[in-house]
Amino acid sequence: MKYGCRPTLDMLDVKKIKSQFPIFSQKPEKGAELVYLDNAATTQKPQVVIDAITNYYSGYNSNVGRGTYWPATQATQAFETTRNKVQHFINAKSRKEIIFTSGTTDAINKVVSAFLIPDLQVGDEVIVTEMEHHGNFIPWQQACLRKGATLKMIPLRESGDLDHDVFEDLLTSKTKLLAITAVSNALGVVNDLHRLTSKAHEVGGKVLIDAAQLVTHEKIDVQAIDCDFLTFSGHKLFGPTGIGVLYGKEELLEAMPPLSFGGGMVKKVTLDETTFADLPNKHEAGTSNISGVIGLGAAIDFVNGLGVENIHAHTRELTEYALERLREMDGVTVFGNPKERASLISLAVRNVHPHDVSSFLGERGIAIRAGHHCTQPLMDFLKVSGTCRISFGIYNTKQDVDRVIEGLVEVRDFFA
Ligand SMILES: Cc1ncc(COP(=O)(O)O)c(C=O)c1O
Repeated sequence: MKYGCRPTLDMLDVKKIKSQFPIFSQKPEKGAELVYLDNAATTQKPQVVIDAITNYYSGYNSNVGRGTYWPATQATQAFETTRNKVQHFINAKSRKEIIFTSGTTDAINKVVSAFLIPDLQVGDEVIVTEMEHHGNFIPWQQACLRKGATLKMIPLRESGDLDHDVFEDLLTSKTKLLAITAVSNALGVVNDLHRLTSKAHEVGGKVLIDAAQLVTHEKIDVQAIDCDFLTFSGHKLFGPTGIGVLYGKEELLEAMPPLSFGGGMVKKVTLDETTFADLPNKHEAGTSNISGVIGLGAAIDFVNGLGVENIHAHTRELTEYALERLREMDGVTVFGNPKERASLISLAVRNVHPHDVSSFLGERGIAIRAGHHCTQPLMDFLKVSGTCRISFGIYNTKQDVDRVIEGLVEVRDFFA
């Protein structure tokens, strides 16, 4: 299906889409068919992504940016074409603003070390939220501890939504940066990125958006949001692991020292000094994850073919159906009731440890996640050590929701 002639939701044939994911065609010898409801952790991979990676290794394996022979030129073209795809996927102004990293965590750490730390003074302030994934929390916390800066937290309201009044009070002329998740990976809360970004900019703070969970929720437009940095991982977008993206405004990436040093990011090296390459190469030292980049390109084509809005509409329908069924259930608590929820639900089964729930369901072929979801400050806010999380993807169906509900009824009754 070509971008530009996308199907409407009614036309989406989930069965047909699911058949493009080889993992679902396995027939387990014992145990039930896989019901995969851990999409917030990672998504399954369609055949086109697997093929793109295999074709690179079997058809034109070579390093990029250097060789002048045919596999090298083909690999370089495929690699750089993905950069263009990412640029359009998030509506960046320029392809120079797209830096490949190994994932969201890597991209955030790189912004911390190359952008924040060099300029961070005692008394400066960094703002995060109480709902951050550790990947968008610990790097800022450690930088502040090291430099004598202050880490401030935007608290949550009972619904799980951010308390915008407190946020506005936290902003001062010392605010260096606001680091915020677009979507909570544990509660599904969707944050108002436009409002948060413009408020932070009013006091001169920069804004980094952790879009790890946003990529299949809505079409990203970095120019409309006006964020300074944005990060995401390929593996949550039906792409491979080990590849991610750091978007940064060109003038910021230009002004920053290189994210790391080595081959491929220089103009000239002498014994005394090095001059660095232009963007984006300046920030991509060493051999990149070439197959990962090519796989990410195929994943973006796949997502564009379906339409992010259609993926979202489908998973939202499943989420609403699941919420409806869960609310009818005795002995199950759903955490949070945000104004806008992405396609994930955190819940608890009365008197049953989340790991017992996930193990019980796992034995029946139902994959959900249990634990703190790398959000321990959020778990402290919820006053629990962990939750059970159900998260939907494009290949899930209402039958999957029914299966997990049946499983939850069984587990509740078994432990009662
Ligand atoms: C909101 C959020 N931020 C950051 C991360 C870290 O992503 P990665 O492990 O791909 O670097 C995750 C992963 O679950 C996430 O959900």
